[in-house]
Amino acid sequence: MFKKLALSTAMALGLATGGAYAAGEGGHVEDFSFSFEGPFGTYDQAQLQRGLQIYTEVCSACHGMKFVPLRTLGDEGGPHLPEDQVRAYAEQNFEVFDEELDDFRPARPTDHFPANTSMGAPDLSLMAKARAGFHGPYGTGLSQLFNGMGGAEYIASILTGYTGEEKEEAGTLFYENHAFSTGWISMAPPLMGEDVEYADGHPNSLEHEAQDVAAFLMWAAEPKMMARKHAGFVGVIFLTVLSVLLYLTNKRIWRPVKHKES
Ligand code: HEC
Repeated sequence: MFKKLALSTAMALGLATGGAYAAGEGGHVEDFSFSFEGPFGTYDQAQLQRGLQIYTEVCSACHGMKFVPLRTLGDEGGPHLPEDQVRAYAEQNFEVFDEELDDFRPARPTDHFPANTSMGAPDLSLMAKARAGFHGPYGTGLSQLFNGMGGAEYIASILTGYTGEEKEEAGTLFYENHAFSTGWISMAPPLMGEDVEYADGHPNSLEHEAQDVAAFLMWAAEPKMMARKHAGFVGVIFLTVLSVLLYLTNKRIWRPVKHKES
């Protein structure tokens, strides 16, 4: 019995530190602090709008986001753009191929963000979730609930993790990057700082831009995070109240028996 207990304790400890090892193996992930961390964290609407701007003006040149419907830009809890702005945004920025017309036409809110395979860059729809978990700065477990899952941190770390070193291998240029698993990534540094001019006058240093677009990509991958946290919170309260009621009921049911004995 004791042996078993010791074994499982050791395993639990091993699991707790395992995450940190995994992150260390891959690359160095900075612990950026995001508004949506913690059990009550929420997306910062203005930040999501700035991130959308960066994705549109910089990243979409190479990366698609084919699983994200354009209409969700109007969703509450997301960038929450007014309906007419969603329509204007879709029309002005993207063209989609319409099979009925057999031609390209401006995108509509009912379309998704287009895919983009022109540069061999991965789709960013789910990147923040795909790279979450073991890339988290604190490994797996409860601390992730409080400190964030790591996907947004990972993306911001990639964008700020370039050292400036380059090398060419088999005709491809690789750029040294602290956060990338192999240390060398084939994506040229997409952000330098001051790449976009924010409408709200927010600072546009490299760190700010990287965090803004990382937050936006987190929302793209997990648009219902707030609803999920809310449901979880209601669940916890419900179970707490239920536990108290059951405890009191239990006491009352057994009261006659206990009283007889004493
Ligand atoms: C010039 C084209 C280009 C632009 C612009 C670009 N990327 Fe990339 N990106 C790539 C390519 C190519 C890869 C694949 C790199 C690799 O696997 O070595 C990549 C990979 C990535 C990855 C995946 C890293 C991983 O773990 O596999 C992320 C995240 C990423 N890009 C985010 C961004 C963001 C955010 C922007 C906008 C700020 C952006 N990229 C702009 C070409 C680009």
